[in-house]
Amino acid sequence: MEKDRLSRAREYEQQYGSQIAPLERPMFHVTPMVGWMNDPNGFSYYKGEYHLFYQYHPYTSHWGPMHWGHVVSKDLLHWEFRPAALAPDQPYDQGGCFSGSALTLPDGRHLLMYTGVRLEQQDNGRTCEVQTQCLAVGDGTDYEKYAGNPVLDEHDLPEGGSRFDFRDPKIWQTEDGTYRCVIGNRPADGSGQILLYTSPDGFHWSYKSTLAANQDRIGKMWECPDLFQLDGKWVLLTSPQDMLPQGFEYHNGNGTLCLIGRYDEEKGQLIEEYQQSIDYGIDFYAPQTVLTPDGRRVMIAWMQNWDTCSIRTPEEKWAGQMSIPRELEVRDGRLYQRPIRELEALRTDPVCYKDILISGEVSLDGVKGRTVDLELTLHPEKDGTGYHKFAVRFAQNDRYWTSLSYHPQDHILKIDRKFSGSRRASIHQRRCLVRGERDGLRLRIILDRYSAEIFVNDGEQVITATLYTELEADQITFYAEGDVELDVVKYGLDTGGFDGLGRT
Ligand code: FRU
Repeated sequence: MEKDRLSRAREYEQQYGSQIAPLERPMFHVTPMVGWMNDPNGFSYYKGEYHLFYQYHPYTSHWGPMHWGHVVSKDLLHWEFRPAALAPDQPYDQGGCFSGSALTLPDGRHLLMYTGVRLEQQDNGRTCEVQTQCLAVGDGTDYEKYAGNPVLDEHDLPEGGSRFDFRDPKIWQTEDGTYRCVIGNRPADGSGQILLYTSPDGFHWSYKSTLAANQDRIGKMWECPDLFQLDGKWVLLTSPQDMLPQGFEYHNGNGTLCLIGRYDEEKGQLIEEYQQSIDYGIDFYAPQTVLTPDGRRVMIAWMQNWDTCSIRTPEEKWAGQMSIPRELEVRDGRLYQRPIRELEALRTDPVCYKDILISGEVSLDGVKGRTVDLELTLHPEKDGTGYHKFAVRFAQNDRYWTSLSYHPQDHILKIDRKFSGSRRASIHQRRCLVRGERDGLRLRIILDRYSAEIFVNDGEQVITATLYTELEADQITFYAEGDVELDVVKYGLDTGGFDGLGRT
């Protein structure tokens, strides 16, 4: 049974994935080989390469029984497809191989831990998903599911923990050689909690503690946790469902949460000190991190959100992108993000403007494109001059554009893709309250054909959105009500024709 479903997926993706032309995909952001993609899974460094798996349904461009797709890269930007790694083909995962993570075992094998979903008919006639944690071991291409699966099930839950919401294990090895794992779960209060498990060898696991409890504060169920130490603090990332808005920090629906604090190792508890959103844009969910060989903590996320999936229509050949990998840092109780430094090697054709004055609508020679790294530094307002509004429009032609606008009086940055060509009544705008230096503003905008990622004030906040505007719309223009003085540095970005399928 096992071989059939996986080989079928591998044959299908080979046949149909290769029919997608390079220009139909972003240049350096990961997309599924074909069909649907959601969360990043198994983000790890193995045998000299980064491996990234993803929640995958190759047969349609909407969610279906989950497989794991697979890509590898040496620099986190040139990604190559590998054959699908997992298919739902066992009694304990016939409902899907849900999210999980990966590490390298001492004997050199690659260990995957994922959530196996089994559909169970309830007395009331409803079908529920029973979720357990399962293992697969492999060599970087082929993976074999562990004979002892599942390794964690309802018997390993604390009292009140739901067996229907028990998912997304993130595993790592500690300095003493033993293993830890954090898993999302729904306790009796109906909201979320993150459970901590330990193992001597990566195969035998036991419950240790409840690492963090939502207690109905921020959304409901907490999905896709990740825990790591960074810059003297402990950081827990998770993606809450069913959020209520809180000021400009959290928005309705599915969002992301970063808790920063201390860790009581003995009790296995996070002592929270700070909390924030991870991304303030429209399309960002389920981030996962890897530690690079040179010690950087790098995060990648699904550059989409369950509440905005309708931006892609079912006829598309692929749906779902990953964010650009981002280097993380904790400074003054905040999570900072910036695009991985490897991106700088892709820069071409710099164009610089220093101390230019923008008033009304302006375009600048040499500033255009859909694969762009654009740095804008808005100078602080001077006495007697000033502006009410500044905006940069991109992916623009006569018909379409996406804009990022700033109102200095109330410190609001707004992304708006209403005119990007979408024909769906989905969420197209989001506002972000800018923190930090209130008078100057630094923006770094990364465009990769079908997305914009905006790093505000050196990564203190990030705004991410996808846009599926036709590629002919490649103009960039600036707009000011009043006078804005700014510096502009623009680079093209180029992977040299690399398209991930081994063709150039
Ligand atoms: C998050 C999520 C996970 C789950 C996966 C299923 O986006 O709901 O909790 O494992 O997607 O595809």
